[in-house]
Amino acid sequence: MAGHNGLVGSSILRKLKKKNYKNIILADRKRLNLLDQKKVFNFLKKNKPKIVIIAAAKVGGIYHNSVNGADFIYENLQIQSNLIHGSFKNKIKRLIFLGSSCIYPKYSKQPIKEEYLLSGKLEETNLPYATAKIAGVKMCEAYNKQYKTNYVCLMPANTYGPNDNYNTLNSHFFPALIKKINECKMKNKKTLEVWGSGKPFRELIFVDDIADACIFFMNKKINESLINIGTGKDMRIKDYVKFLMSKFNIKLNVKYNLSKPDGVYRKVLDVTKANKYGWKANISLDEGFDITYKSFIQKIKK
Ligand SMILES: NC(=O)c1ccc[n+]([C@@H]2O[C@H](COP(=O)([O-])OP(=O)(O)OC[C@H]3O[C@@H](n4cnc5c(N)ncnc54)[C@H](OP(=O)(O)O)[C@@H]3O)[C@@H](O)[C@H]2O)c1
Repeated sequence: MAGHNGLVGSSILRKLKKKNYKNIILADRKRLNLLDQKKVFNFLKKNKPKIVIIAAAKVGGIYHNSVNGADFIYENLQIQSNLIHGSFKNKIKRLIFLGSSCIYPKYSKQPIKEEYLLSGKLEETNLPYATAKIAGVKMCEAYNKQYKTNYVCLMPANTYGPNDNYNTLNSHFFPALIKKINECKMKNKKTLEVWGSGKPFRELIFVDDIADACIFFMNKKINESLINIGTGKDMRIKDYVKFLMSKFNIKLNVKYNLSKPDGVYRKVLDVTKANKYGWKANISLDEGFDITYKSFIQKIKK
């Protein structure tokens, strides 16, 4: 599995261990830099995994994406191409590729069905990242068609959970809000600044639900290459702010910073396909937050 130290990868690893999977092959960045094609091909040749899970990627929030576009497109294309083509060369028939709901058009019809991919323009702020991810989806599709592989692309909604990134400049909106509201509480601040208007809708999925989907689809024979993974429900960012204030038991004066970008207005996923195969998200926002909060507190104590 690639990316086992990350938010999604660490959850997949916990779940694989819990389900008693043996012979899980792991290598961190120091041992295997996934940008290095030769090393990736040799690693796959030597270890011959039955299944490859790609949870490694260059990932970040709206600011990080908008100022580091070159790194986002180059690193993601390189990591995924090395692993997808390397898997094919080594006769590995099953592979899970993780992307994100930002591959879909900015003004997509809602809820977003898998077939809406490439039906319109992408959001500018994460265009290089989304373009790389779309290339990964198309690559898996092409290999499945030409070489009869079984490479499945799972597109999750915005994710949160233990082991998230709380860095002020490159985190996603939900961990960024957790960090800011906690800081207000600790430092007795009365005003919370939120990037953008707070009006866009976001769908959140707890990371263990994604891990569950990876293992479910890794063991399933399916006909498509692309499957949405989400709860199918969304809320405005300002409602997440209210939710978090109630969880932190704090009332703050919220200032929306309109000089910061909103990103896509809405991108709720249609999860009918995943549901038809028998997979469904299980963990509520309330339950997911409580688990996340415990790990957040441990992380900031370190
Ligand atoms: N977070 C979300 O909201 C979200 C939502 C939907 C989908 N996803 C998808 O899920 C996947 C994983 O995301 P994540 O949030 O778990 O990201 P993450 O926490 O940043 O983890 C990414 C992992 O990839 C590894 N990695 C990156 N570049 C590498 C390289 N050159 N060589 C070796 N390892 C490398 C990182 O290693 P280091 O630990 O050494 O940096 C890290 O372990 C991505 O494909 C993403 O598109 C994420």
